[in-house]
Amino acid sequence: RMKLAVLTSGGDSAGMNAVVRAVVKTGIIRGCETWIVREGYEGLVRGNTQVHAIHPEPPTVPAAVKHAHGGQASNLLSNLRFGDGDLLRDGTGDHPGGRSLKGRYIVRVGWDDVRGWFAEGGTLIGTARSAVFRTTEGRLAAANNMIKEGIDALVVCGGDGSLSGADVFRSEWPKLVAELRSQGKITEEQAAKHGHLKIVGLVGSIDNDMSMTDLTIGAPTALHRICEAIDNINSTAASHSRAFVLEVMGRHCGWLALLAGVSSGADFIFIPERPPEANPWEDEMCAEIQRHREIGKRKTIVIVAEGAHDANLQPIRADYVKDVLTERLGLDTRVTTLGHTQRGGRPCAFDRILPTLQGEEAVKALLEATPETPSYMIGVRENKITRVPLMEAVAMTRAVAEAIAAKDFAKAMSLRDPEFHQ
Ligand code: F6P
Repeated sequence: RMKLAVLTSGGDSAGMNAVVRAVVKTGIIRGCETWIVREGYEGLVRGNTQVHAIHPEPPTVPAAVKHAHGGQASNLLSNLRFGDGDLLRDGTGDHPGGRSLKGRYIVRVGWDDVRGWFAEGGTLIGTARSAVFRTTEGRLAAANNMIKEGIDALVVCGGDGSLSGADVFRSEWPKLVAELRSQGKITEEQAAKHGHLKIVGLVGSIDNDMSMTDLTIGAPTALHRICEAIDNINSTAASHSRAFVLEVMGRHCGWLALLAGVSSGADFIFIPERPPEANPWEDEMCAEIQRHREIGKRKTIVIVAEGAHDANLQPIRADYVKDVLTERLGLDTRVTTLGHTQRGGRPCAFDRILPTLQGEEAVKALLEATPETPSYMIGVRENKITRVPLMEAVAMTRAVAEAIAAKDFAKAMSLRDPEFHQ
């Protein structure tokens, strides 16, 4: 019986809870034992497990529930008091009645623990950018914690850094097991049983910056949030005939900025993959905005991706763009930085559907994994859920950054998404 754990890592994104829900429920349906790891890789290192599972079998199979709980019926009943995903939902893991998850990071979960998790923003199981997992000692502790519980499969939902961390963990696994055995922390039997770690990655990131997939989980919601903000700004901008410069997230990726501009009819957009061609770019921007004003537009919207720069890789800052618009065109200009309002809040419908389909595929991929198969990343291409070798996707994503650093912007655009960026 496969024992699988799911964790979320890196910056949170809407839809991560739907991932956890889908992985847990699919795992249960397919006969796996299901666990969550709180606080990302940090929790894997800290360990201290808690056996807590509400309906570790699908509730539609009552006989199985009975069997699974054996003599622990009263335990099951008391668990039900905390049903509907509540134990994990409040973020502290503390509940009346003395049941607490404080200090416990690896938690066995069941069907009802993840009930209703579709609609929740962020990640209820917590996330972290773990420094300790980047050390061999940290990964050794993580491996030990997993082996102690017999966990042999891991689903990681995060960005490219988190997913490559997962692949390092997997390739190093036999060495970690041998070391734990030589330190006497695990038995010969445990070492033999855990010769191979199964890993699958799901991309949770608002930035949509991963290659070899059309969309990352959380990007549609963040984009929607930006569009709503622009709709709000439009009315006040038009009332005063003002210009607004909006800085949006995306790290080194211009997807949010570009698509928000397309969805809201922005006048000018700055993205890292394709800096303005004219030198100086200020002339090009002002000419374009002037033209829009002359044909009757009462408002101006300029979107600046947070990673935007000019052709010489000098950052383009929203405040500077504001100064240019004010001084050269005499526009009454304001800057709005949307910040983390783009990242938080309830997922849109697509950020519930995509993680559900991908979470199911992730469990299937784990069940089919062999020592020879690569670690897979679950993606989506032309509306089909896909499996691609994780490290190929990470390498291609890194190649975009390298192309930008080498000022080969045409290559950066084509690597990002050949069809969309034509
Ligand atoms: O990767 C997601 C993201 O929101 C980026 O768009 C942004 O650059 C970064 O994370 C912000 O990180 P933090 O929440 O740590 O400030």
